[in-house]
Amino acid sequence: QDELKDAVAAAAIDEIRPHLARSTVLGIGTGSTANLFIDRLAELRDEFKGAVASSEASAERLRGHDIEVFELNEVGSVPFYIDGADEVNAHLHMIKGGGAALTREKIVAACSERFICIADASKRVARLGAFPLPVEVIPMARSYVARELVKLGADPVYRQGVVTDNGNQIIDCFDFMIDDPLAMEARLNAIVGVVTNGLFAARGADVLLLGDTHGVERLTP
Ligand code: A5P
Repeated sequence: QDELKDAVAAAAIDEIRPHLARSTVLGIGTGSTANLFIDRLAELRDEFKGAVASSEASAERLRGHDIEVFELNEVGSVPFYIDGADEVNAHLHMIKGGGAALTREKIVAACSERFICIADASKRVARLGAFPLPVEVIPMARSYVARELVKLGADPVYRQGVVTDNGNQIIDCFDFMIDDPLAMEARLNAIVGVVTNGLFAARGADVLLLGDTHGVERLTP
């Protein structure tokens, strides 16, 4: 699977390389696939200006390769956001947040012109929800939000010991198959105390680079 992840990381480099300029600041995601992309990006260090990271972990890795990390507020928007996913469907709606970075990922994705999702074929699903949907909550609202999630049909489990980069907590929704990701994303956002949910449907990916043993497939919604 690591080989497949590296193949899609390489394909993402090919996808963005023709568009890089000395002033380009890229949006970079979080996770093992994003890490492989960051490592490959190091070779192009002189062809772009720097990056905005969706987590402290990715920022650290970027700096480790001497790639300058900028605050999103300084930059405003990024031409590309490159990130992995936990699940992705044919509409390029995704579940993300397995690494607890969902809020910053969603913010950088919202500020990007093109979201390039990089994933191995195990992430492709017909229907989202087998992967437990992460919901980031304000700590004092955790038990209230969990009760609301039960009303929606989920089996919420507190991700013990995890504090997000924003100082919040994560509830994972088990047994929660999702028929209408757009509607469910909005519904979850409307629960008081929810900071973000891991459904990326209102802002899905624009391009999916999906790796399997036959190579990398390029898909659009
Ligand atoms: C991080 O919070 C997630 O959204 C990741 O994008 C997701 O978990 C994919 O990670 P891998 O590339 O490690 O599978």
